[in-house]
Amino acid sequence: MSETLHDIRLTVNDVVHDLRVPARRLLSDALRHDLGLTGTHVGCEHGVCGACTILLDGEPARACLMLAVAAQSWAITTVEGLTEPDGSLSPVQQAFAECHGLQCGFCTPGFLTTITAGLRRDPCPTRERARDMIGGNLCRCTGYQNIVTAVERAAEIGAAR
Ligand code: FES
Ligand code: FES
Repeated sequence: MSETLHDIRLTVNDVVHDLRVPARRLLSDALRHDLGLTGTHVGCEHGVCGACTILLDGEPARACLMLAVAAQSWAITTVEGLTEPDGSLSPVQQAFAECHGLQCGFCTPGFLTTITAGLRRDPCPTRERARDMIGGNLCRCTGYQNIVTAVERAAEIGAAR
């Protein structure tokens, strides 16, 4: 029996996309497979690792825990949408590059989106608050120290822009 398809409209990185998807299509799969936005990574698919974190109206959310049909009313930002309007790196992206905040990079899109939202709420975090900011994201490579340093550096870059 073929699955019923639903016509939906997603706004991703300020671009409107019309899609036809099954009701059970995860937002993470819609982004990656239907829209080709493969910057959003999928690790656990259970809301645990944070690799799939995107922003909904600027707030972090797990794309693997949301159905695409339920995401229509939000402005979605993926890692591809974090760059500045002129295409240059955002403060968080720049800080990750400067501070070596990644190794394999699998977790990185989720950290970048999470920290982008976190610094909007707390533009000048202490190291302790920087650690809390990334408490919901897992990284198997870096040991986190450089990521925490990158949060602090991103705050500096953001303040200077
Ligand atoms: S893939 Fe979504 S939280 Fe791990
Ligand atoms: S850099 Fe490899 S999992 Fe984080």
